[in-house]
Amino acid sequence: MHILHIDCSPRQDGQSRRLSAGIVAQLHALSPDAVVTRRDISALPPPDAHYASLLARPAETTGEQPEGSVGLSDIMIREIEAADILVLGTPVHNFTVPAALKSWLDHVVRVNRTVALGLDGKQGLIADRPVLVGVAAGGIILGEKAQQPDFFTPYLKAVLGCIGLQSVHFISVQGTAFCDEDVLRAAADQALTAMTADLRSSLSMPGRAAGAIHDA
Ligand SMILES: Cc1cc2nc3c(=O)[nH]c(=O)nc-3n(C[C@H](O)[C@H](O)[C@H](O)COP(=O)(O)O)c2cc1C
Repeated sequence: MHILHIDCSPRQDGQSRRLSAGIVAQLHALSPDAVVTRRDISALPPPDAHYASLLARPAETTGEQPEGSVGLSDIMIREIEAADILVLGTPVHNFTVPAALKSWLDHVVRVNRTVALGLDGKQGLIADRPVLVGVAAGGIILGEKAQQPDFFTPYLKAVLGCIGLQSVHFISVQGTAFCDEDVLRAAADQALTAMTADLRSSLSMPGRAAGAIHDA
C-alpha cells in the first residue's frame, strides 16, 4: 500500500498533524509494508501567472518545459496517482479549508489533466481511492451539535469529487479552542478507533478500497 500523507497546518505541533499522523500509524498497523510519501503544503503559495495562463487555454498545446506552479502541479498530481490512499491533516479556517490547502487544490484540480470539461459539466480523470481527512476545528462545525456553518466538508467533497476522488471520509477532533490536552487526546483516540474497524474491512477488499470508513 502506498500512502500519500499531506499536512497543511502552519503549526508543526497542531492537532490536525497529530490526527493525520495517527491515521497513518493505524494504516501502518494494518499494512506494515505500507510506503509513505510525505507532502507538507503549509507554505505552498497560490498558483502563479504561468499556471493561470495554462488553465485559461482550452488545451495543453505548448510542449514547454514545466516550471513554477506548472511543475509543482505535475509533481503533486503524480503523487496522487501513485497513492492507494490519501491522508490529509487540516485545520478549519474561517468555516472552510486553510489557504494552503486551497492552493494545493488549485494545483491538482487541473483542466485536461485531472478534470475534463464537457457539455454535462466536469468529469474526474483520476481513479477513485480513499481520502482520509483528519480535521481539527477550534469550535464545533461538524455533526448535529455544529455551532457554525460548514463550508468545509461540502466544499472538500465537491472539489475532490470533481477530479474523481469520491471516497472522502472525515475523522475529526473538534473544540480544540476550549478542550484541554487530555480531552483532545481522548477524542482523537476515539475517532481513530472508530475509523480503524471500518478500515480493516475496507483494506481487505481487492483493488482500491472504496468502502465507507468514517463520515462526518
Ligand atoms: C485563521 C484561522 C481561522 C480559524 N477559523 C476557525 C473557524 O472558522 N472555525 C473553527 O472552529 N475554528 C477555527 N479556527 C481554529 C482552528 O480550527 C483550530 O485552532 C485548530 O485546532 C487548528 O488546527 P491545528 O491545531 O492543526 O493548527 C481558526 C484558526 C485560524 C488560525
